Amino acid sequence: MRVIICENYEEISKKAADIVASQVILKPDCVLGLATGSTPIGLYDNLVEKNKNGEIDFSNVTTFNLDEYYPLAPDNDQSYRYFMNTHLFDRINIDKARTHVPNGLAADPEAEGKAYDEMIAAHGGIDLQVLGIGQNGHIAFNEPDDNLVAGTHLTGLTENTIEANSRFFESIDDVPRKALTMGMGSIMKARKIILLANGKSKAAVIKEMMNDNVTTSIPATLLKCHPDVIILCDKEAAGM
Ligand code: PGA
Repeated sequence: MRVIICENYEEISKKAADIVASQVILKPDCVLGLATGSTPIGLYDNLVEKNKNGEIDFSNVTTFNLDEYYPLAPDNDQSYRYFMNTHLFDRINIDKARTHVPNGLAADPEAEGKAYDEMIAAHGGIDLQVLGIGQNGHIAFNEPDDNLVAGTHLTGLTENTIEANSRFFESIDDVPRKALTMGMGSIMKARKIILLANGKSKAAVIKEMMNDNVTTSIPATLLKCHPDVIILCDKEAAGM
């Protein structure tokens, strides 16, 4: 695991965009794993800029997002499909048919999860996965637990996550209690991973990432078993 400590959020976003851009330049038909949340917004703004100025071409890129609230329609403005369209897909020259987000209305979530993993595999797997991290160490919606699920699956959100995500909703009661999420196994299969973290609220969990322990009570620590992970964090998240 490599840690790159940045001055601030702007530098995290720029460096992350440089890494994603190099991936797209090296392999124009690459498969990107994408994340939602407040952290990657700056990365997406930088990618839009790079696409506009001709530095990168997304026309042959395929994407898979980590997760989606359940049940929630893709056109609901709180859905992660809506978030991705607004922050990235509608602003770059990507073919929407190549962008994938788990279906928050799937009648059979188990079958949806299985099909999602099969689709990732059919595309040759994820070349570069972008991740954020929850204060409780969750990755996507893989919440702390005795057991973690390997594949894409339906899961319940912890109180901590419902509370943290309520800032995007009118009231905490509006936050969906379930989500479809890629599992830790789906994520660990990505060939390269970049994890972005900024601000004091992430300092404790980033510190946990720096010691030698791996525990399902902090799912992000499993990333220590992956051969190619870069953590991009600012000084506050690095506890400096
Ligand atoms: P955030 O969320 O980027 O809004 O902090 C990260 C996460 O919960 O994974």
